[in-house]
Amino acid sequence: MNFLKHYFYTFGLVFLVLMATGCKDQKENSNKEENMGTRSLGEKATIEADDFGTMPDGKKVDRYTLKNQSGMEVGIITYGGIIVSLKAPNNEGISEDIMLGLDSLSQYIQSNPYFGAIIGRYGNRIANAKFSLEGMEYTLAANNGVNHLHGGIKGFDKVLWDAFPEKERNGASLRLTYNSKDMEEGYPGNLSVSVTYTLKDDNSLDVHYEATTDKKTIVNLTQHSYFNLSGDFSKTVLDHELTLYSDAYLPVDRALIPTGEIAPVDGSPFDFREPKTIGRDIAQDHDQLKKGSGYDHCWVLNNPNSGIRLSARVRHPESGRIMEVFTDEPGVQLYTGNFLNGTLPAKGGGTYAQRTGFCLETQHYPDSPNQKKFPSVVLNPGEKYASNTSFKFSTEPK
Ligand code: GLA
Repeated sequence: MNFLKHYFYTFGLVFLVLMATGCKDQKENSNKEENMGTRSLGEKATIEADDFGTMPDGKKVDRYTLKNQSGMEVGIITYGGIIVSLKAPNNEGISEDIMLGLDSLSQYIQSNPYFGAIIGRYGNRIANAKFSLEGMEYTLAANNGVNHLHGGIKGFDKVLWDAFPEKERNGASLRLTYNSKDMEEGYPGNLSVSVTYTLKDDNSLDVHYEATTDKKTIVNLTQHSYFNLSGDFSKTVLDHELTLYSDAYLPVDRALIPTGEIAPVDGSPFDFREPKTIGRDIAQDHDQLKKGSGYDHCWVLNNPNSGIRLSARVRHPESGRIMEVFTDEPGVQLYTGNFLNGTLPAKGGGTYAQRTGFCLETQHYPDSPNQKKFPSVVLNPGEKYASNTSFKFSTEPK
């Protein structure tokens, strides 16, 4: 009897152990499958919302934080659709904030040189704040001397956007919408605008713009992020190596309005067709660099009308970070933070000195409504304005 009992106990124990191991294996396998599943479905990307403060009129401003599974994180607020932070890994896998910005909503409201903001209705300048459409002259808000800049006194960078977060197949996205009223800042037509930021698992941040109008109008939307790929805002961006896929640029007058000439970059400090540091030629004795106080010009991108294509590549040798800019726009404004002057407090301490950030604003050319030779920026009722830009981050080994 004792022998039999012993036999059954031992058998039972072995049976239980086998069962448990089997279950465990099964569970591990199903976890593995789940992980594989979530990976391909991008469910590991997350979006979280928190409070970013209150507008003077009592309206709440939210911040959405998009995270992917490859170490990138982007913070976007509903005020101005501003990207307040962008963390991307360096070549040691360390994610750092490479986006210039301010610490609080009140600082953004008080004085923001368009850090991280959506720009509209018109990116960059319109001469004398005037343009004509079908024989009607429109007068816009003059907020840059006599000229109009970045949508006026209260452009899209200073309005509250409605936000719709969404998980994507391979990342997370935030759609922002805004209805701009007929004659807002002087522009005709009720314009319904949406800007969708999508952070993908391949470490690209896509920006998709759309707009429709009920009256003939003009539109030229862009994104005004200032980057410093070193992740150290006390350093300038002069050591960043830049390539621009462009054979020509638009010379400007003293007020930074394009003269209408399309000038070849060949043999000038504006030639970035081969990688060179932003700082290499910036101090050259060149009339256009004096007018711009450095680079503050629109480059005419090669291969227009060929859809989204590589327009710029920036490489920061020390951190190994690389940013590539893809766009379907005809131009890109390179602005090298020439007007930053050490008065704005930097995130994490210190201040933003001159040239501690660069912008690559993909867009139609400045002052297009007044320049017959430039591609049209007119939007008619029944048409859809659509524009795409993608900022792709990667690293190169040390
Ligand atoms: C743009 C303009 C610059 C400057 C900055 C914001 O890039 O071209 O001249 O106004 O915005 O300071």
